[in-house]
Amino acid sequence: MLSAFTLGLFALVASSEVSASPKPVPITLQSRKTPRGQSSGLRRRALSAISVPLDDFFLGTDLQWFGNISVGTPPQDVSVVFDTGSSSLEFVSTECTSCVQTPKFDPAKSSTFVRGSRTTTLDFSTGVGVDPVVNDDYVLTVRSGTDTVTVGGVPAKNVSLFTIIDQTPAFNVDPFLGIQGMGSRAQGFFAALVKAGLPSLFSLFLTPNAVGNADLLVGGIDNTKFKGNLTFADQIGSGDWEVESTQITVNGKTTSVLKQRRSIIFDSGTSNILFSTSTTNAMYALISSDIKPFKAEPGAYGLPCAKIGSLPAVIDLTFESQQGTPFNLTIPSSELNVGPFKSDPSTCQTLINAFDGLDLVGGSVLKHYYSVWDVGNQRMGFAPNGESQSSMTGASVI
Ligand SMILES: *[C@@H]1O[C@H](CO)[C@@H](O)[C@H](O)[C@H]1NC(C)=O
Ligand SMILES: *[C@@H]1O[C@H](CO)[C@@H](O)[C@H](O)[C@H]1NC(C)=O
Ligand SMILES: *[C@@H]1O[C@H](CO)[C@@H](O)[C@H](O)[C@H]1NC(C)=O
Ligand SMILES: *[C@@H]1O[C@H](CO)[C@@H](O)[C@H](O)[C@H]1NC(C)=O
Repeated sequence: MLSAFTLGLFALVASSEVSASPKPVPITLQSRKTPRGQSSGLRRRALSAISVPLDDFFLGTDLQWFGNISVGTPPQDVSVVFDTGSSSLEFVSTECTSCVQTPKFDPAKSSTFVRGSRTTTLDFSTGVGVDPVVNDDYVLTVRSGTDTVTVGGVPAKNVSLFTIIDQTPAFNVDPFLGIQGMGSRAQGFFAALVKAGLPSLFSLFLTPNAVGNADLLVGGIDNTKFKGNLTFADQIGSGDWEVESTQITVNGKTTSVLKQRRSIIFDSGTSNILFSTSTTNAMYALISSDIKPFKAEPGAYGLPCAKIGSLPAVIDLTFESQQGTPFNLTIPSSELNVGPFKSDPSTCQTLINAFDGLDLVGGSVLKHYYSVWDVGNQRMGFAPNGESQSSMTGASVI
């Protein structure tokens, strides 16, 4: 879910409500290998990659993937979406009477919780489900605080966070308590783990619901979960994750609009893909003239559900590797149908939403690839998801 925080960075409107995110921690991965003969003290500090199992929030289509972190002393489990489209940690607390998610985090039960004095609102520009955001309907009211956040048994003390004290009803369907931002600058628990010696990267294995076994691997890459080699491309966003794309192809065809270079944001917290109106129209023109804007929800498109099943809609997003070689990330036709509109169940919503001002892809692309989010080297790696369901035996830290 791309948040106002990230948009704020675009617009260079730094809100004084929001504390500056820490600077990236550059890590040369090779240099983390303990040289021969070095004291065992250093070696003892080496941490192993931490695997966090993820559940899929599935409502007819894969929406978001979430897992547990622990907050407080003693630790309370807090389920969060690991969201590369935002950069802060916020979750429901007992103070939120409008929130229906349980079990709520209870600050009174944590001896290390420090309540802050700032309250602010967080506006999300992409929502929880597939429907577009209408009239600012994804807004959280939050209070600042700090507490210990523990992931993989490693406690990070005094982590800045927000407790949700009010939320708009659009959040009520969430099967999780909150959102852990995983932007391209290390912050929160991740920054603390990196400081403690873990490589500054994480990997996402976001599988379709039918496959399962999704996970987040903090500080490592699991070679058993993908086929072939990872291809890396430069990350060019400041705060969010962005890679430059050279062209978009739909069903093997492209147009002058689709051949333009554009910077595409990768947002694990968003399921639909968002492109400017002209790009969206150019893409749909190559799929079917039956796909029309859905008037009731600006930015959304749809067509009669009876017609959608047979439509070919293969989208190839072309990027360049760090070596200058083109590579594609492909969204298969099966992603085109994101399900019937609530307000008109005979019309099915299609994957691409028009949204002027940014180009963004998320779960519908990421679930077909193993993805490496390399904060230390400011690059992203991709390889096709493997079918392998085996555990961590082949895991490696590069
Ligand atoms: C998170 O923890 C709860 C127990 O507090 C457990 O029921 C749930 O399965 C966990 N979720 C995941 C994705 O591991
Ligand atoms: C916690 O962090 C804040 C800044 O985020 C700092 O002002 C404060 O002194 C820290 N507290 C402790 C106990 O380290
Ligand atoms: C992976 O990289 C290695 C070493 O560069 C190369 O020998 C191998 O052919 C590559 N495999 C694939 C599937 O591209
Ligand atoms: C990417 O996809 C386009 C369209 O299908 C295709 O023409 C091109 O050869 C592909 N590029 C690579 C490197 O696979």
